[in-house]
Formats: sequence, C-alpha cells, structure tokens
Amino acid sequence: MYDPEKYAAVADNFVYVHRALRRDLARIIEGGRELFESDFPRFARILAKHTELEEVLFFPALEERAPGSTQMTTDPHQEIEALVDSLFADSSGEGLEERLRALQELLLAHLAEEEELVMPAMMEHFEAAEIWALDGQIMEHCAPEFMQEMLPWWFRHIDAADRVAVGQNMAVGVPPEVLPMLAQLISAGLDEAEWSELVNHVPALAAGRS
Ligand SMILES: [Fe+2]
Ligand SMILES: [Fe+2]
Repeated sequence: MYDPEKYAAVADNFVYVHRALRRDLARIIEGGRELFESDFPRFARILAKHTELEEVLFFPALEERAPGSTQMTTDPHQEIEALVDSLFADSSGEGLEERLRALQELLLAHLAEEEELVMPAMMEHFEAAEIWALDGQIMEHCAPEFMQEMLPWWFRHIDAADRVAVGQNMAVGVPPEVLPMLAQLISAGLDEAEWSELVNHVPALAAGRS
C-alpha cells in the first residue's frame, strides 16, 4: 500500500495528467481528420510540456537518489516526440488514423511504465514534502498562456472523481493567493453542473467563478 500523502503528491503528474492525455488522444482519433486538425496541436503542446517537466524537473531529482530509475523513459520520449513531429510535418493523405494509433500504442505503453516503475520509485526515494516542493516548481516552467490552455483542458478530460482529487491537491499544495486564478481557469473548462459539483467537494475553489 502506498503512503496516501506521498500518493497525493505524485498523483497529479503521474496519474491524473496521464488520464487526460489518454482520453484526449482517444477522442481525437475517434473524431477523424477534423478533430485532428483542431485539437491535436493542443494535445501535442501539453504532452511536450509534460515530458519536459519530467526531463528537467522530476527525473533528474530522482536520478540523483536512484541512478538508472528513469532510464527506460528516454527512448519512448524520443520516439513519441518523433512521431508527433512527423504528424505535424505531413498529415495529408491516407493512414492518418493508423499513425495516430501507432502514437497511441507507444504513449499508452510509456505512461503505464512510468506509473508502474517511476512513480513508485518517486514515493520510495522522496518524502511527501519533497515531492510537493518539486510540484511547486512546475509553474516556474510554464508560461501563463500554457496554464490558460492546460488547466481547462485537464479538467475537461478527467472524470468528476478525478477533478475532486486534483482540486483537493491544489487547495492544499498551491499558495492561497494563486488558487483563485487556477480555479478560474479550471472553471473555464467545465459547464455549470460540473463546476458546482466540483466546488461542492472542494469549496476552496469557489472563488473561481462568481
Ligand atoms: Fe508522464
Ligand atoms: Fe513521460
């Protein structure tokens, strides 16, 4: 059993962002070329930032304490990036769906590997407070425009229970002066009913929509 405090500290990045990435890519594949053209660029930007945060923030910290523990992510990160680039370079013609499914297959295997191997290593080698401190550095790596795109997207593409879990983590982990801004961005991704349900469970977010 995981220490619940440590689990809460790693789950946003290793569980809940992964879920949104899986769901959004599946949706884009189902939606065909039209949805690919409108929504794949955003998916790709968010995936690239997620990978960057792992490579510059989380994995170097873990490698210092447990050398080699993130090695298995290097090749998939490169392969996934190359596939995404090739889709941007040329997505015309037949075969778009197969190429997206190839990306999906690589991505699902990679996310599962991080969840099964890297996430437990984070919990083994760090105290909860240390993981929260790493989480606290995420915003330094993200432009405001990225947060504006990412937060509504994130909450749009996870289910109600996951929204509550992430919202509670934010209410605890984010400085109180930043929370209303985040709550506002989250609310932009949700309809009235979804937003009220979330705020019922996480009243600290209520400042996000008047
Ligand atoms: Fe990841
Ligand atoms: Fe990754």
